[in-house]
Amino acid sequence: MAKQIKIFDTTLRDGEQVPGCKLNHRQKLVVAKQLEVLGVDVLEAGFPVSSPGDFSAVEMISKELRNTIVCALSRSVENDIKIAAESLKYAKYPRIHTGIGTSPDHIKYKFNSSPDKIIDRARAAVKYAKSFVEDVEFYAEDAGRTDNEYLAKVIQVAVDEGATVLNIPDTTGYCMPDEYGAKIKYLVENVRGIHKCDISAHCHNDLGMATANSIAAVLGGATQIECTINGIGERAGNTALEEVVMILTHRYKDIFETNIKTPMLNPLSRLVSESMSMPVQANKAIVGDNAFAHSSGIHQDGVIKHRANYEIIDPREVGVDQSKIVLTARSGRAALAYRSKNIGFDLSKDELDIVYQKFITVADQQAEITDTDLNLILRSIFKKVI
Ligand code: KIV
Ligand code: ZN
Repeated sequence: MAKQIKIFDTTLRDGEQVPGCKLNHRQKLVVAKQLEVLGVDVLEAGFPVSSPGDFSAVEMISKELRNTIVCALSRSVENDIKIAAESLKYAKYPRIHTGIGTSPDHIKYKFNSSPDKIIDRARAAVKYAKSFVEDVEFYAEDAGRTDNEYLAKVIQVAVDEGATVLNIPDTTGYCMPDEYGAKIKYLVENVRGIHKCDISAHCHNDLGMATANSIAAVLGGATQIECTINGIGERAGNTALEEVVMILTHRYKDIFETNIKTPMLNPLSRLVSESMSMPVQANKAIVGDNAFAHSSGIHQDGVIKHRANYEIIDPREVGVDQSKIVLTARSGRAALAYRSKNIGFDLSKDELDIVYQKFITVADQQAEITDTDLNLILRSIFKKVI
């Protein structure tokens, strides 16, 4: 039986931290409800102590979601944890997410503290959070740059205090996949009682490794991935939800599974991009405009003959109606015949030769030939209006 990997969405917390991505309450609620329908297991709704607006957003989302765990972020500070608990008062499944920086840089320059004192604060934070809710997730911020032996000590304390989920963030996007996977494996092998908890991968994309690291974590024993729609998040972003889900679905089909309804991935990507005014790069995996577009003649010919020649995912699986055959000066006769047929011109071989000569002259002058351009070319040759 395939192992269930939980999807923890932080679009409305780590994602919304991005400058310019702020959503109003109505937009947050629309996104939260769609994420619940998508099938995320956990939705991190905000950082309630950070502002009254974030508090009320978490409270509002807590009232609305009935199937999904609603999570609120806090630091290892009593007031943060108390406010997080208050914001989750109406949640059917509340989770407090609390934690502290554990890397040498964080201990010295952020907290001016010592490794032992950080362990004490971690212990106190989990204990206090557990006085409000059963489900407490502990994060060791900058775990990516934390020595594994010390990290295991911090995580041990969180487990002993009853944390239900252990988040091992690569906060600065520093790790390589083999290191991050080995870090998770080290914790699995060296923390007593860890098997009672979910282990969570939370990766940032500073070196473009967030997706690879999340998959390495799952292979090392993690049971939850923290991610955002379109990979939005601090700096270079977080792990992209659509990428990890499609990797697990396609490359680890019989080993791992998620609850995600993949045909919703593209509609949700557009919803988040439009609400946040954050365009998705055209070549973005799974949800970019060009993810299922073919523009070179060789590829177009191949994909028209047999889709799987150049596509590893059927676009309908992720909510895209069909692959696109884009007409450019790099296109060949197969694509031209295909697109002409789509707009009502079923060309013979001789006709295609004539149309191709005209097409290539026009295509050399512009970036793309649209259906309107193609119609004009065909009408100018055949004097026919369709
Ligand atoms: O990147 C990070 O370490 C975080 C934590 C607050 C979970 O976002
Ligand atoms: Zn983060």
